Amino acid sequence: MKLGVNIDHIATLRNARGGVEPSIVEAAKIALSEDILALTMHLREDRRHIKDDDLYNVKKLGAKINLEMACTKEIQEIALDLVPYSVCLVPERRQEVTTEGGLDVSSQKEFIKEYIKPFKQKGILVSLFIDADIEQIEAASYVGADYIELHTGSFANAFLKGDYKTEFDKLKTGAKHAQSLGLKVNAGHGLNYENVYLMHEIDGLCELNIGHSIISRAVFDGLKTAIAEMLKLVK
Ligand code: PXP
Repeated sequence: MKLGVNIDHIATLRNARGGVEPSIVEAAKIALSEDILALTMHLREDRRHIKDDDLYNVKKLGAKINLEMACTKEIQEIALDLVPYSVCLVPERRQEVTTEGGLDVSSQKEFIKEYIKPFKQKGILVSLFIDADIEQIEAASYVGADYIELHTGSFANAFLKGDYKTEFDKLKTGAKHAQSLGLKVNAGHGLNYENVYLMHEIDGLCELNIGHSIISRAVFDGLKTAIAEMLKLVK
């Protein structure tokens, strides 16, 4: 199983001050120094975290980018110009804090089938972020996606409450069904240092995309050093 590191939260922090710190490029370099598959970056329509330049600056490092995006014309044009390693189509609502549910592929099959064609023509892998729902999985296969990314948010919430079997079984069954249709299967959202071990029990998962828990952990792994260094300068 491979890891995709979502660095959107570095941009969220940077944008809180409107400056350049912390640098996305520095974060990308650190992530790329580990044996990860790709950097996941979500270019939201409102650009609340990742900005267009961030994508190009990270691409210049030679990084594989997994670009999360809504199915809009504007973002499609940017993606086709950027040519990331993969795109992951997600639903997007402006009011949401983070991506809340999976993409509804089944109600817009023909639209998505057409929408992803230019990506496939350019050799960009196409993934669809969906719930572990049989109808959505079959629709993902119908439109010709390469991958699905199973939304693990409900599982992660259930895990916190200690009763995750139902949600976990849905992921297992969904992954199996998708693989039987020839889809490759990734997973992500809400995965953390406590629950990630269970992903090994889902046969054949290719990649996990994880952001929030890694950046949260990084704060505490780095805080002591950061304070000590500043203290030296202040004393
Ligand atoms: N995968 C997708 C499609 C997402 O939208 C997100 C959140 O941006 C993630 C993975 C990572 O989720 P988290 O930050 O909870 O690890």
